[in-house]
Amino acid sequence: MSKGQTVLITGAGRGIGMAIAEKLAQEGYDLILNYRKDQGKSAANLQRFVAAETRVKVTLAKADISETRDISEMVKKLKQEGIERIDHLVLNAAAAPFKPFMEMTRNDWKLLLNTNLIGNTACVQEVVPMMTQGGTICAISSLGSQRVLPKYPLGVAKSALENLVRYLEVELYDRNIRVNGLCAGVVNTDMAPFLKELWPEMFQRYEDAPRRWLVEPEEVANITAFLVSDQSSAMRGAILTADLGMTLEP
Ligand SMILES: NC(=O)c1ccc[n+]([C@@H]2O[C@H](COP(=O)([O-])OP(=O)(O)OC[C@H]3O[C@@H](n4cnc5c(N)ncnc54)[C@H](OP(=O)(O)O)[C@@H]3O)[C@@H](O)[C@H]2O)c1
Repeated sequence: MSKGQTVLITGAGRGIGMAIAEKLAQEGYDLILNYRKDQGKSAANLQRFVAAETRVKVTLAKADISETRDISEMVKKLKQEGIERIDHLVLNAAAAPFKPFMEMTRNDWKLLLNTNLIGNTACVQEVVPMMTQGGTICAISSLGSQRVLPKYPLGVAKSALENLVRYLEVELYDRNIRVNGLCAGVVNTDMAPFLKELWPEMFQRYEDAPRRWLVEPEEVANITAFLVSDQSSAMRGAILTADLGMTLEP
């Protein structure tokens, strides 16, 4: 079913986004991989990915999603390159300040909202007209949407993103687009050591506990692939949690 279908993944150059790209390539989807900078780790990862990928068509698409004009330009360029239809959109990119709300400046709010809410919505606005045969949208969220985590304003944006999933599901139903979200626990990406410094007590508590609690990016990618596929056809406006059960106990 994936043959001939195209997925656009935002922030695909590393971590969860890259794992999703790898999994969806395995599944046979053609990929459009969004990134924002020509230099650095993501750009290098993507160059390697493109060079090694023989199974599916891969197109790189540069845009800083916090700049709505960038997203329009990216979509215009994709059309110029002959891509007329996109079937699935994975909203993976995120950026935020890590500080208490009492210290949030106007610029911090701009970064938070421009990337995670305005940017994600702009991606939807630009990509949905290209989803002419229906498809899916999958938003990657985090536990901060439900739990209060110190110095994590992203949690507030993720709550809004999860609610946006429900609103979009209703609004896009007539276009045969299914919209779902995936709320992941702490994932073993570049972010993990940073989060350990941010939440040392929480990490210590989980590291001392017998339960495995660090989710692997590939595990998030597997569930994303399920939400993108017809296997999840009954799921609409749902948010799945993938946290290895870490929030079950107090
Ligand atoms: N890691 C976790 O513990 C965890 C847990 C739950 C949910 N999540 C969510 O999973 C997603 C991926 O997280 P991650 O840990 O893999 O990586 P991350 O460090 O949060 O990086 C996110 C990706 O988004 C890209 N990005 C950031 N701002 C962007 C912008 N304005 N335009 C385009 N791309 C942008 C980054 O590009 P650059 O490489 O250029 O910076 C990077 O590729 C995020 O939505 C995150 O909130 C993560």
